[in-house]
Amino acid sequence: KTIRKIVDSNVNSQINYTQAVDILNTGEVVAFPTETVYGLGAVATDDVAVKKIFEAKGRPSDNPLIVHIGEKEEVELYIEEIPEVAKKCMDLFWPGPLTLVMKVKPNVLAKSVTAGLHTVGIRMPDHPVALQLLQQIKKPLAAPSANRSGKPSPTEAIHVEEDLQGRIPYILDGGSTGIGFESTVLDVTHEPPVILRPGGITKEMLEVAIGPVIQPTNVEQNMASTPKAPGMKYTHYAPNAPVYLIECNEKKVSQAIQKLQTEGQQVALLAPDNFAQIKADYFFSIGEEGVKEEMGAALYHALRACDKTKATIILATATSIEGVGAAIMNRLEKAAAGKWYTI
Ligand code: TXA
Ligand code: MG
Repeated sequence: KTIRKIVDSNVNSQINYTQAVDILNTGEVVAFPTETVYGLGAVATDDVAVKKIFEAKGRPSDNPLIVHIGEKEEVELYIEEIPEVAKKCMDLFWPGPLTLVMKVKPNVLAKSVTAGLHTVGIRMPDHPVALQLLQQIKKPLAAPSANRSGKPSPTEAIHVEEDLQGRIPYILDGGSTGIGFESTVLDVTHEPPVILRPGGITKEMLEVAIGPVIQPTNVEQNMASTPKAPGMKYTHYAPNAPVYLIECNEKKVSQAIQKLQTEGQQVALLAPDNFAQIKADYFFSIGEEGVKEEMGAALYHALRACDKTKATIILATATSIEGVGAAIMNRLEKAAAGKWYTI
């Protein structure tokens, strides 16, 4: 049985933090909200505990986990040599949705956290519940997104419950996460640094801070024989029905839906508010057209919602790759396995 406890700034929440800390300290896993998505945490120095994360998620063991810390100073406990660019990034973007991949000190973190790599990804999350938990346990927490492997990441505690009910003991429920998609993963062991996964801290923001940064396109990433972020090679963020990207154009979307319906398809449409009058079988708003933050925050919720419908096909409108658009299109292209719908 999985227990879900609501936590907020109310003093009565303290008992739930204490419980979460106790459960983690006995070597079990706990799900908690961050500003990006919900994470499934275990004490990052406890190999038996960390293995339970992989088990609960059904995650391949060659996919390393991100280590979450509650104070910037903790980085030096786990990292051999902190590059200057990393220090700048920490000062500017932590706490926040930026994971820094750096050379790990040997034998300080559980083996399964790094999945045999010589590097580790670390971030300090910008969420009051995550920070409270980290600062109370005073230990690093390894935490991937708290979904079953392959499913969209959870942006609400209820999503965690749907995926991991009965497989984990405890969920701290802090409501909806703000950003709605996973952190930027930046490899600073390279010169210039490489974005392994685009996220809320954009290429543009990073370049203002630290100069040139490499952001491979999705195609380039798929072609690399050994993916740099092992997680990027797996199917991700995918609902049950096939997803197709489509140009964000009302006339084209409307025509596509009519054609699909004549072919006997039940169509779910993920599009901006102004597409609501188009006669799809199911419509899920991704916010106001052109407002990428709204799109990001609504995306995983909408993809998950499709699984509760009888849709046989999902159309999702595309956006440009400027700013957080890069992260959004990265997730959408993965959900669609690169497929576009054109008439
Ligand atoms: O926003 C987030 O990052 C969320 C919240 C919970 O913090 N976490 C998250 O974790 O998305 P996960 O495990 O779902 O994704 C981590 C990604 C994977 O693609 C993994 O391969 C990559 O980061 N990664 C982790 N450590 C790495 C390393 N040492 N080198 C390269 N890639 C790494
Ligand atoms: Mg994940």
